Amino acid sequence: MNYIGSKYSLLDFLTTTIADVTGITQGNDLVFADLFAGTGVVGQTYRSLGFHVIADDIQYYSYVLNRHLLGNTAADADPALLEHLNALPPAHGFVYENYCPAASGRMYFTDENGGRCDAIRLELNRLLAAGEITENTYYFYLAALINSIDKVANTASVYGAYLKHFKRSALQPLRLEPLPVVDGPVGEVYNRDISELITDIHGEILYLDPPYNSRQYNSNYHVLETIARYDDPQLTGVTGLRAGNDGRSLFCSRRQVERVFDALIRDADFHFIFLSYNNEGLMTPETIRNIMSRYGEYRLFTRDDYKRFQADTADNRNIAADTTVEYLHCLVR
Ligand SMILES: C[S@@+](CC[C@H](N)C(=O)[O-])C[C@H]1O[C@@H](n2cnc3c(N)ncnc32)[C@H](O)[C@@H]1O
Repeated sequence: MNYIGSKYSLLDFLTTTIADVTGITQGNDLVFADLFAGTGVVGQTYRSLGFHVIADDIQYYSYVLNRHLLGNTAADADPALLEHLNALPPAHGFVYENYCPAASGRMYFTDENGGRCDAIRLELNRLLAAGEITENTYYFYLAALINSIDKVANTASVYGAYLKHFKRSALQPLRLEPLPVVDGPVGEVYNRDISELITDIHGEILYLDPPYNSRQYNSNYHVLETIARYDDPQLTGVTGLRAGNDGRSLFCSRRQVERVFDALIRDADFHFIFLSYNNEGLMTPETIRNIMSRYGEYRLFTRDDYKRFQADTADNRNIAADTTVEYLHCLVR
């Protein structure tokens, strides 16, 4: 999934640096926490390395994706159900009524794809309520729906607005494609504010990947949130944002971010803490260094646009100002 801040392309850099710093390459059921989990690519990588992964995200669609990637095994797949869901006729549910042109004028999905999304979503709820599928299987195909509907969304990339004409990929018929099943220990997944969860968990390695800037995920991915929750929200404005603004993050607030970040590091009961942040974020590298240094031994690793990977040296500070640098801040307690 094309997701703001996804670490898909940085996985090598992350896993190599984390292994170098910790000396741990195989999980052996040690706890690895991925608490701003997003698409789940980092947690899924560590599950496959044998770690017991704890994932958390404030957005419910992310919970759904991670619940599948960390909670499911091959035994939870049901190929006959997949075929059944893909063959359902379209229904006129919340997605058709609110995100498609015929009923609402909004053009996030074609009428056909919106109706097919509703049919699958309603059937999953019905099957779970009737006890005809397990919770694991429910999340298996709900995660598949989140991922598959995103592929036919008529947006530039996020759901802050829809395009005025249907682009080619949005005209393709929605087809439910299962996400991979990840080998490794079954993990734990939460849908809580990290600032509350952090005092309830502990372990060996904590990986933190907060938002860098003031772009809130709840407004950029509101359509996926509603498809995941299917909770009939009141919508507002031309773009149909969820009313009430649930899921806003203090890590996107210039005024609040230093305070909540400091409290998070203070409260984190983990031996190794890693923080991804780039050089265009709300907190400067110096601010992060100052905060993390209060709580243990601090180190910094960077990878610049040219995909070089190196430890923090004097040379590193000569990087041209217009390149984006990914920082991995490390703390050893
Ligand atoms: C940079 S993205 C993470 C990307 C992820 N590492 C990936 O590779 O897909 C930041 C994530 O933090 C989540 N988030 C923001 N504030 C949060 C909070 N207070 N508690 C939990 N999650 C939060 C957002 O919903 C978003 O999914």
